[in-house]
Amino acid sequence: MTQDELKALVGRAALAYVVPGEIVGVGTGSTVNKFIEALASVKDTIPGAVSSSTASTERLQALGIRVFDCNEVGELAVYIDGADEIDPRGCMIKGGGAALTREKIVAAQSRRFVCIADESKRVEVLGGFPLPVEVIPMATQAIVRRFAAQGGEAKVRLRDGAPLVTDNGQHILDVTGLRIADAAGFEAEVNQWAGVVTVGVFARQKAAVCLLGTSRGVVTLDF
Ligand code: 5RP
Repeated sequence: MTQDELKALVGRAALAYVVPGEIVGVGTGSTVNKFIEALASVKDTIPGAVSSSTASTERLQALGIRVFDCNEVGELAVYIDGADEIDPRGCMIKGGGAALTREKIVAAQSRRFVCIADESKRVEVLGGFPLPVEVIPMATQAIVRRFAAQGGEAKVRLRDGAPLVTDNGQHILDVTGLRIADAAGFEAEVNQWAGVVTVGVFARQKAAVCLLGTSRGVVTLDF
């Protein structure tokens, strides 16, 4: 099976976690795009979705799925999103699609995080994938130096030769050279640095379940 087929497989499998009559939290990325396509087939059973990015909002609306603002709704039963890496405890690196801040906000408002990913995302220790960190631009070089002191190399993410601007009007640093064994401790520390908006380690908002697309089918990991 191709990676695209594995993503479609887990995207469809995630429908089993959508609670009829309840608004569903929707993440961002190519795997979530497959979920959104599948969600359209059951759209009449839910009031709508809360979205974690402009990109997902546009896709949801194009398929006739109503999108609610976070502030219009209370706690969500479930949040469904992809990951760039997931470790044996369900901690993740996220933000490859630059949507990490809104993803963490919607995940924090949800009782259960269901991660959908192909098996290439499963790792023993986080850090192989460059860690996305959303930053306030005036703090960029100070944060680059702090990562350097920890052995990390942080680079501003570019789009068309200029710094990428997130949905929140900020920039993204991608940090290589890290080995994040204590995901919760690392997340708590970097979150304190002045100018950091969101660090792409999801340990506090970790996955409760991961639907992993493998050549043998969908493997369900409970954390
Ligand atoms: C976006 C994300 C995505 O969930 C993550 O990058 C995985 O994306 P994909 O499903 O395309 O591999 O965190 O900010």
